[in-house]
Amino acid sequence: MRIGIIGAGNIGGNLTRRLTALGHEVYVANSRGPHTLTALAEETGATPVRAEEAARGAEVVVVAVPLKNVPDLPPGLLDEAAGNVAVIDTGNYYPRERDGRIAEIEEGLTESRWTERHLGHPVVKAFNGTYAQDILDRPRPGGHPERIALPVAGDDEAAKKTVRDLIGELGFDTVDAGGLDDSWRQQPGTPVYGLRAGVEEVARALAEASPERPGEFRGQR
Ligand SMILES: NC(=O)c1ccc[n+]([C@@H]2O[C@H](COP(=O)([O-])OP(=O)(O)OC[C@H]3O[C@@H](n4cnc5c(N)ncnc54)[C@H](OP(=O)(O)O)[C@@H]3O)[C@@H](O)[C@H]2O)c1
Repeated sequence: MRIGIIGAGNIGGNLTRRLTALGHEVYVANSRGPHTLTALAEETGATPVRAEEAARGAEVVVVAVPLKNVPDLPPGLLDEAAGNVAVIDTGNYYPRERDGRIAEIEEGLTESRWTERHLGHPVVKAFNGTYAQDILDRPRPGGHPERIALPVAGDDEAAKKTVRDLIGELGFDTVDAGGLDDSWRQQPGTPVYGLRAGVEEVARALAEASPERPGEFRGQR
């Protein structure tokens, strides 16, 4: 598949590594420009591009930038993506350490819905609770007892299937975590966030989540 990755840090970088290794055609962008991505390009064979170009013709786009930087992404980012593009949002809201206070999220809007509104395109929430290093270290073949499962939430069932299939190819099981309005169940501070476990335990953790945002993940006024 043709895949655009916007953000080449911990999570975007490791997804670039694994997706190129699987034979996908990966275009990767950061904020500073393609000339700063030559090492990653040489290592992986991915093509470094400007953020404006990353989604061009892509069947999957991964948005892996800090949540506070989502509003800085180029307008019309997804206009030239493939018609059926699945957009993966890996983001988390860290008001105290990184993102500052965002009123809509504090008032209950899910983090991915906030990102979706900025992008102007539906997103599928995935990888947000996965340690970036685990993308390299923990892939396991289907049926392996140590294969871990990732929750995936989104409203577009076709896009969600594309994302779940791709995650399966990367070496992880998935659990359908519902629509984007249910995606609070996998936000920071929930039982599933950072959980390394199989399908049953991940499904249980999603069911046990509380809609109350933990204090440490609330912004200060
Ligand atoms: N780290 C993890 O283990 C992990 C796991 C799951 C989810 N997440 C979430 O995924 C998101 C990314 O986390 P990360 O740890 O990968 O971040 P990171 O290491 O800080 O990398 C962020 C990347 O985003 C790029 N970027 C920032 N603003 C941009 C813009 N306007 N246009 C294009 N690219 C831009 C940065 O480019 P420059 O360097 O050129 O500025 C950098 O390549 C966060 O919401 C985080 O909470 C992280």
